[in-house]
Amino acid sequence: MNFQLTEEQQSVRDAARQFAQEKLLPGVIERDEEQRFPTEEIKEMGELGFMGLMVDEKYSGAGMDTISYVLAMEEISKIDASASVSMSVNNSLVCWGIEKFGTEEQKEKYLKRLATGEIIGAFCLSEPEAGSDATSQKTTAIDKGDHYLLNGTKNWITNGSTASVYLVIAQTDVEKGHRGINALIVEKDMEGFVVGKKENKLGIRGSDTHSLMFTDVKVPKENRIGEDGFGFKFAMKTLSGGRIGIAAQALGIASGAYELALAYSKQRKAFGTEIANHQAIQFKLADMATQIEAARLLCLQAAAMKDAGENFDKMSAMAKLYASQVAMDVTVEAVQIHGGYGFVKEYHVERLMRDAKITQIYEGTSEIQKIVISRSVLA
Ligand code: CAA
Repeated sequence: MNFQLTEEQQSVRDAARQFAQEKLLPGVIERDEEQRFPTEEIKEMGELGFMGLMVDEKYSGAGMDTISYVLAMEEISKIDASASVSMSVNNSLVCWGIEKFGTEEQKEKYLKRLATGEIIGAFCLSEPEAGSDATSQKTTAIDKGDHYLLNGTKNWITNGSTASVYLVIAQTDVEKGHRGINALIVEKDMEGFVVGKKENKLGIRGSDTHSLMFTDVKVPKENRIGEDGFGFKFAMKTLSGGRIGIAAQALGIASGAYELALAYSKQRKAFGTEIANHQAIQFKLADMATQIEAARLLCLQAAAMKDAGENFDKMSAMAKLYASQVAMDVTVEAVQIHGGYGFVKEYHVERLMRDAKITQIYEGTSEIQKIVISRSVLA
């Protein structure tokens, strides 16, 4: 596989790097502390094309490939993983899901505005009792002829209060199990839809994570994505692509922490010399650099397979499994290299360490990725 980047891919990466340094870095510590969503920054990311990076230009997207998306996600995540999770959900779950499986009307009505960041979207699968076990949906969407009557609660929803459009997975026919599940496009102002409590989180504290409540929400039939009963497969297919985005986020968190640790090791002195001259630090840097390079190759491999139209389910699970472990390992070492400074907020690595943990949990825990991978290798 040749990962020589095209000029276009390099320019997406450079633009994301510049935006992250100039616009995200200045307020990132305060947003984390105050649990404040990067509203203005996300708007600007939309204007630059980052919120609909892979969407076709005909639907107002940037028309880039998945490789470019990985590169941009890495750069944004090096600085602000709260902004990048919002970008990832909007791109890989919401925009991709509607573009790939939605009707022309749904694309006109929703995708164009989602792709420019004029509005943002949320993906609502997790429930109080259905996280990893995604087929056990308790939220119901009862068929009432021209509409579905939606009732239930969703948990841990990224972009929970800031989204305008929600893709909600719900059970229509319990008898049919996962084949009786539908995916519906729900608008925020539909009657009976209430945004619930905001979560107070360990990491990605600038991102907006909420529970959502639906009580007798009337969702028009034309807002269903795909055929009746396609909802579970829709969720699995979109999540498979979403895992490339989260793998790239984990990669960015790791490489951001590594770059800070590398720079710090060249200027901090101990025992009469820069700490980079001590083999204890050199070995840590060597391990970190190797892990990051391997994670990057897995992310690019999964992205290249998706761009080539190949089945990428196993590769995206591998990329997410490995990159999220690397994010944990590398950020812990980055804090260690910084010593006491690593434990205080101004040096950024403690935040990256806290942000890393969620990459092993959302869009399928590491254990779920192992289920996907092992089923594929055993098939
Ligand atoms: N593509 C297409 N179809 C798929 C598929 C895929 N990638 N994966 C599964 N399916 C199909 C299967 O073929 C099967 O269909 P048939 O019976 O018609 O053949 C059906 O879906 C059920 O599949 P399984 O029997 O494999 O289902 P399972 O109950 O054993 O669960 C699982 C499989 C992999 C564990 C799945 O439940 C899963 O991925 N769970 C994790 C869910 C998850 O990632 N949640 C994250 C929430 S979203 C989020 O975090 C977003 C955010 O805010 C950041």
